[in-house]
Amino acid sequence: MNRKILIGGAWPYANYSLHVGHLAALLPGDVLARYFRQNGDEVVYVSGTDSHGTPITQRAKKEGVDPSEIAHKYHEEFVRSFGSLNFSYDMYTATYTDEHKKRVQDMLVRMKENGYLYDKEKQQDYCETCGKFLADREITGLCPVCGAPAKGDQCDACLSSFDPSELKDKHCITCGNATVLRPNHEMVFALSKFQNKLEKYYQDNHKQWRTNAINETKKYLEQGLPDRDATRSLEWGIEVPFEGYEDKRVYVWIEAVMGYLTTAMRVCEERGESFDQFMQDGDDLISYYVHGKDNIPFHTVIYPAIIMSLENGWQLPKMIVSSEYVKLGEDKMSKSKGNLVPILQLAEQFEADSVRFFFTMNNPERRDISYSEEELIAAHNKFLCGAFGNFVNRNVSFLKKKFKGVVPSGVVAPEMVEQTQRAYAEIGAKIEAGELRAAVEQMIGYIQDANKFYDTQAPWTQVKQEDQTDFNNTTATCMYLIANMSNLLAPVLTEGTAKIRTMLELDETPCWKPINIKDGLVLGDCPILYTKIQ
Ligand code: MF3
Ligand code: ZN
Repeated sequence: MNRKILIGGAWPYANYSLHVGHLAALLPGDVLARYFRQNGDEVVYVSGTDSHGTPITQRAKKEGVDPSEIAHKYHEEFVRSFGSLNFSYDMYTATYTDEHKKRVQDMLVRMKENGYLYDKEKQQDYCETCGKFLADREITGLCPVCGAPAKGDQCDACLSSFDPSELKDKHCITCGNATVLRPNHEMVFALSKFQNKLEKYYQDNHKQWRTNAINETKKYLEQGLPDRDATRSLEWGIEVPFEGYEDKRVYVWIEAVMGYLTTAMRVCEERGESFDQFMQDGDDLISYYVHGKDNIPFHTVIYPAIIMSLENGWQLPKMIVSSEYVKLGEDKMSKSKGNLVPILQLAEQFEADSVRFFFTMNNPERRDISYSEEELIAAHNKFLCGAFGNFVNRNVSFLKKKFKGVVPSGVVAPEMVEQTQRAYAEIGAKIEAGELRAAVEQMIGYIQDANKFYDTQAPWTQVKQEDQTDFNNTTATCMYLIANMSNLLAPVLTEGTAKIRTMLELDETPCWKPINIKDGLVLGDCPILYTKIQ
């Protein structure tokens, strides 16, 4: 069956280099995309750089440059980072592009027409020295609960959270002057109207989500959903397409999640296809949203509510692939500790396949994982060189040495054919369920069984028999297994599997069904797949 697959990778903020935490959370998206393409489904895999929001303006202020400069710089770096690990987005863009802005504005107009955006007056903290309304993070004061110094909307001392306007003795974080309250107004999104519908959506879908997504979403829904600001009084962001909002911008979280829609629209248009049709809810469309656990409510509450408010019949997120965190050894990673391992550094140190393999095999699906170079190297040596590379190598180098590369024809062992068919079905099902660790485990199992088959048959003795049938059958079977490894491992190991396909003159693009090598194949160049790291 040809299905439509929408995969949305979370949009990283343009204020810090991508690191192993991003990688672990986002890599599942690429594995899914590659698998579904192999399977012949139509994939739209999108993401981009989240370039608005206070963290970016603050960063720009610190460096004395325009926020757009920061955004461009990191966007370019992100493109290189993802490229270095062979991410295969159908579109990776940024929220500062005109295409994104225009489409966001169109959607806001529609939300307003549908009655889900309204104007609200309020008293807001204003700094007379800086001449502007202050964002949550720009206000310091004393905690209204315990009286300790606190910033924005939460107190680190007593862990209470509150509205920043409730802080006592409020000051501007930039200039230190006391704030004053001034009347202001914002456009508000009527999230509360979707309480019931979102509860039903949760009931219908949560069984296929991870525990963290289930718990976080339940918590939000049980608290009751308040309406949320759709605009903010600041300068850096997308202009609000309504009169009277010239000094305001679209709230970053609203327009960032809309990025899935704005980019998927562009991909469909470029393919000459109707996005509206693509996105219609139905059994032939499966949408996956891939992110870290701190992003969950935005994908299971806010974003679905936005889609509902557009009233286009578009599918709400079906599969939520929400990861736990990566630790460095025993330590939590943090910007303040400065112990984050950037993706670019990793890609310089190791081959893309080794990195992809480690972070898929150890994906933080249910609990935090810890990353260390030693463990990545150990996994590379044991599985990529030891099990996989070695199986390929021992077979092809024997044929090269003794038979000038001519692959003998023989009968592929029926039990290995059966096992291969099962591998496609079962690994595929695991990937589709977002169970990537289990999928990799079964890939490893397939390789180990191939090695066992080789060892039991002992082709190095079979070749000495007068009748070569046994040797030929064993070799044909092993070559068949290698050919199928180049499909079955391709969603994770993009480079090693490509080498096999060239070597065995297979189709350049991998597929997701059992394949055979062609009769009378003569092996040309047989590069080593992976070299051991000392
Ligand atoms: N920029 C946010 C972060 O890095 C993620 C945004 S994901 C999207 O936490 F849903 F908004 F796209
Ligand atoms: Zn100020």
